[in-house]
Amino acid sequence: MSAGFKGMDVVSIRDFSREQIEHVLKVADKMVPIAKGEERSVLLEGYVLGSLFFEPSTRTRLSFDVAMTRLGGRVLGFDQPTGASVAKGETLADTVRMVDAYCDVIALRHPQDGAARLAAHFADKPIINAGDGAGQHPTQTMLDLFTIRKEKKDMEGINVVLVGDLKYGRTVHSLSEALAMFGAQLTFVAPPSLQIPKEQLKQVDSMGQKPKMNSSLQDVVADADVLYVTRIQKERFPDPSEYQKVAGTYRIDLDLLKNVKRDMIIMHPLPRVGEIAPEVDRTPHAKYFEQAFNGVPVRMAILGLVLGGLK
Ligand code: CP
Repeated sequence: MSAGFKGMDVVSIRDFSREQIEHVLKVADKMVPIAKGEERSVLLEGYVLGSLFFEPSTRTRLSFDVAMTRLGGRVLGFDQPTGASVAKGETLADTVRMVDAYCDVIALRHPQDGAARLAAHFADKPIINAGDGAGQHPTQTMLDLFTIRKEKKDMEGINVVLVGDLKYGRTVHSLSEALAMFGAQLTFVAPPSLQIPKEQLKQVDSMGQKPKMNSSLQDVVADADVLYVTRIQKERFPDPSEYQKVAGTYRIDLDLLKNVKRDMIIMHPLPRVGEIAPEVDRTPHAKYFEQAFNGVPVRMAILGLVLGGLK
């Protein structure tokens, strides 16, 4: 089965079977000492990652960089399109064709849904979707699952409440599909205008899950095993006045946490912009910084598998 990873594009979580995701998580577990700098590796020595970020990023870009570097590989690319020939009008297809010739694997973040699929069409080397518009963020999903698995062991039957911007949030699009595959119970909490799109609901339904929907977090938080919080993404709203109507709808603070399960965990793909109060960071519920670190071993596993250095 693992031989199937070599040369594979990582565009959507739908590209993976449950067995393949389990394998990525198992390999990622073995990468932890290298990710922490406790062990050295030259597994990807001689390999180059093309890192093409057309949108801002802290965690995804830097964790791909450190994952490649700690495995002995190199990274080249850009962190904003203004520094590349895109600023002169070069198309995504041409940019990808060029970087494909310089690198062994490409991580691409782009504001348009479907950009990674288009890039995969033009590249011979593996394309890893590092977030495409309001589409998908499959490597984020892998690290989210890695975090949940570490905290909760079994994902079957756990109650995951996903709250915030479910319409534009690519992390929840990928994650809800994967969680449904693993048998988790899902509750989607958002204002009606930001509820989960029909396409994701259909996908979740097709896996035999019947998600709940609500606009009140207070109504459902007491039953949550995992509270997955997301930022309302100002940059995705075509009309800024629509953003103003929903900004600040949800805030996780100590008051909200009074009635939650003792072992409930709070996750967030980050960045946060006020939806989790800083005092929550000191509670045992807060797992979002560990979650962000988990991006390193998980991206090591993905890079190693698609480049064929790991089995
Ligand atoms: N989680 C995530 O994608 O964060 P960045 O935008 O900082 O990469």
